[in-house]
Order: sequence, then structure tokens, then C-alpha cells
Amino acid sequence: MARKTRDLADRYGEWALVAGASEGIGRAFAAALAESGLDLVLVARRRAPLEALAETLRREHGVKVVVAVADLGAPDVVDVIRRQTGDLSVGLVVYNACYSTIGEFAETDVESKLLTVAVNCAGPVRLLDAYVRPMIARGRGGVIVMSSMAGFQGGAMIATYAASKAFDAVLGESLWAELTPKGIDVLVCVAGATSTPTFEAQTPAARRRRAFPGSPESVVDDALEALPKKRRGPTIVSGRLNKVAHFFFDRVLGRGAASRVFSRSTRSIYGDG
Ligand SMILES: NC(=O)c1ccc[n+]([C@@H]2O[C@H](COP(=O)([O-])OP(=O)(O)OC[C@H]3O[C@@H](n4cnc5c(N)ncnc54)[C@H](OP(=O)(O)O)[C@@H]3O)[C@@H](O)[C@H]2O)c1
Repeated sequence: MARKTRDLADRYGEWALVAGASEGIGRAFAAALAESGLDLVLVARRRAPLEALAETLRREHGVKVVVAVADLGAPDVVDVIRRQTGDLSVGLVVYNACYSTIGEFAETDVESKLLTVAVNCAGPVRLLDAYVRPMIARGRGGVIVMSSMAGFQGGAMIATYAASKAFDAVLGESLWAELTPKGIDVLVCVAGATSTPTFEAQTPAARRRRAFPGSPESVVDDALEALPKKRRGPTIVSGRLNKVAHFFFDRVLGRGAASRVFSRSTRSIYGDG
């Protein structure tokens, strides 16, 4: 069945790069983009799940798929990817991968907090620096940066992750302002809790329902439907419940109250009690 997104290949073609493609939301992006006819560069650290996904997408959708094994938190990530892909014409970049540690700021290891900054903040800066310039030269392209409801206000037990997602949101909004006039579609996609392997690994089974998780596919559908739309803003919040929550936090509560209420929720999911 043809997807609503079928014209993405015409708009951005020919290659789309998904950073953090082997599972969860990134895997769903890869599947949807392959279905809409784009050739793919799949990036993550583990080769085996990337190769397995690449094989499935080639077989099911007849697209070309190149696997690039790379650590998105490493300073040389762009060179490492390019050594594996050669000089491909990448017309769409999805920066999806992230790293997070959960726990009180003062009780978590500084190296893991800095890894969050490396993967979630330096990573998109490095990748977009490399891939946006050729898009500008071509006068067309697309960028999706994944953010989170956690990036809208402070949250206990996820301080560095929440701050990194605010960084992603503002980076994407700024690029939207700069690049839209140059023919490049830029979207910040804000997800709420989503049933992915990372979410399941970090959230005790008995508490998952408290976060009202949605599916990776619905996040991807929302993002790909919004990306080419004219006259949208830079950011979408995926999911009706998340939109309502965002309205309440943003327009009804002040910033301090929003942070307190959000932190009550993060503590109830991740805390001892
Ligand atoms: N799931 C949720 O509840 C939720 C909620 C709000 C927002 N989001 C946002 O949605 C995005 C995706 O989340 P997710 O839960 O699907 O999974 P995730 O844990 O953010 O990403 C998993 C993918 O990223 C790759 N990855 C992780 N670290 C990497 C690194 N250093 N270098 C290269 N690849 C790396 C993983 O493969 P390897 O392990 O093989 O490297 C895997 O393919 C994130 O940006 C997150 O902030 C998610």
C-alpha cells in the first residue's frame, strides 16, 4: 500500500540518513522512509541489528541500504560514517539516537552525564554541520531532530537528559529559521513516552503504564506527515495526550510549577517510592 509519505523520495531524494536506526523510533523511521522509496544510510554502534534491518528493507522495499557502524558521541563520527558510505548525496537527516542516565544529578557519574551531552548535543551539531552544507548548495533537503517532552521544563532524576533535549529543540528551531528560506524543511519532533527497547529497559514494568507510552510508528507518522508541510512551525508534539499535557504545562502552569509537577511524575516512575 502506498504511504502518504511516498513523495518524500521526490522531495528529498535520494539518500536519507537515520542516526540511531537499529531499534525503537529510529528503526521505525528507517522502515517508513524505505517504504516511501528513499535509499538509506543506517547508523548505530551495533552492526548485527543494522545489517539485519538493512537486509529486510532491501528485500521488502527494493531500496539501497548502506550500514555505517559509528559512535555518535565520538569526535570523529562524520569521518567514520563517510569512510563507510563514500560521498553519498544525503537529502534527509534524522537525528534520533540519544543517551540518558536516570538518577539524581549528584548521584550519577559525571562521565555518563558528559556522554549524554556528547551523543545528544555534540552529535547532532557534528552531523548537521556535515550534511546541511550540501543541502544548502542543492537548494533542498530535510532535517528531523528528535526531542522530548522532558525538554520543555526541568525534571528530577533526568536533569542532563532533559537539558540535552531542550538543546535539541532549540538547535532544530534555530535551523528551521535559517534553513527554511534556503529550501530545507527542518522539524523538531517532540515525543512523549514511547514503547521502545530503551524505554522498556529504563522503566520498571509495573510503572510503564504511568507514562502512557505510545508506539514508535505513530511518532514517525506524525513527523513524516509534518515535515514537508508549509506554514507549520518548527516543532510538533506527537500524540494527543502529549499535546494536552504540553498546553497545560506551557500555558497554565508557570515554569516552576511545571518543573515541580513534571518532577513528581519522573520520581513516581523512576524513584524508589
Ligand atoms: N522512547 C521514549 O520514551 C522517548 C520519549 C521521548 C523522546 N524520545 C526520543 O526519541 C529518540 C529515540 O528514542 P528511542 O527510545 O527509540 O531510543 P534511543 O535509545 O534514543 O536510540 C536507540 C538507537 O540509537 C542508537 N544509539 C544509541 N547511542 C548511540 C551512539 N552513541 N552512537 C550510535 N548510535 C547510538 C542505538 O543503537 P546502538 O545501541 O546499536 O548504538 C539505537 O539504534 C531519542 O532522541 C529520544 O530522546 C524517546
